[in-house]
Amino acid sequence: MKIILLGPPGSGKGTIAEKLAKDFKFLNISAGVLLREEVKKGTTIGKEIKKYIDKGELAPYKFVVEMVKLEIHDKKGYILDGFPRSVEQAKIIEDLNVDLVIYLEISEEKVIERFSGRRIDPNTGKSYHLKFIPPPKAIMGRIITRKDDNPKVVKERFRIYHKETAPVVGYYKKKGILKTVDAAPPPKEVYEAVKKIVKDFQKK
Ligand code: AP5
Repeated sequence: MKIILLGPPGSGKGTIAEKLAKDFKFLNISAGVLLREEVKKGTTIGKEIKKYIDKGELAPYKFVVEMVKLEIHDKKGYILDGFPRSVEQAKIIEDLNVDLVIYLEISEEKVIERFSGRRIDPNTGKSYHLKFIPPPKAIMGRIITRKDDNPKVVKERFRIYHKETAPVVGYYKKKGILKTVDAAPPPKEVYEAVKKIVKDFQKK
C-alpha cells in the first residue's frame, strides 16, 4: 500500500507516520529526515540543502526527488511523509500510483504551540512534545530543538506551505484519493482516525 501524508508544518505527519509504520509494518520515508541526514553527513549537497532548510524554504527538487526515488526504488509499499510538497513534485511521482493521500488538516494558530514544545532525539530522529508527547526520562539529557522551529523560520515554512503545498490537497482531491483528518485533537485521537482510514481501505 502506498500512502502520502500531507499537511502543514507541525500537523503531526511525522508522529502519525511513525505509528502507522509500526502498526502496519509500512516502510516510512520522510523527505525532511532524508534531507537532514544529508546535512548531518556534511556533504557538498548537504551543505547546499542546509541553506534552504534553515530558511524554511523548499530544498531544490533535483536533490529531494533523487533521494526519495532512491529510497522507494523497487518497494511495493510505503508511507511518504512530506513528499510531494508541490504540484510539480506530485506530477513527478504520478507513475507510482499512490493508493491513499491522508491530509492532516489544522489551522496555523493551533499548530504554533506545538513548535515551542517539540523536542527531537538526535539518536533516533524521533519527535516528542514536552506537554503532549513527553520524551522518556532516559533521553531527557540529549533531546534537542530543531533549528528551523524558531518563530521566524516557522513563519516562512507556513508561507511556503500555503504557496506550494496547499495546492497539492486539491490536486489529490480531484483524483478522488484524498481523505481529510482533523489533526487538532490529541495525538491518540488523530491516530485512531487515520488508522480507521487505512483499515477501511485495506478491507476494500
Ligand atoms: P519536514 O521535516 O518535513 O517539516 P514539516 O513538513 O514542516 O513538518 P514537521 O516535521 O515540522 O512537522 P510534522 O507535521 O511532521 O509534525 P510532528 O509529527 O513532528 O521538512 C523540513 C524542511 O525540509 C522543509 O522546511 C524543507 O526545507 C525541507 N523539505 C522537506 N520535504 C521537502 C520536499 N518534499 N521538497 C523540498 N524540500 C523539502 O509534530 C509536531 C509536534 O507536535 C511534535 O512535537 C509532536 O510531538 C507534536 N504533536 C504531534 N501530533 C500532535 C497532536 N495531535 N497534538 C499535540 N501535539 C502533537
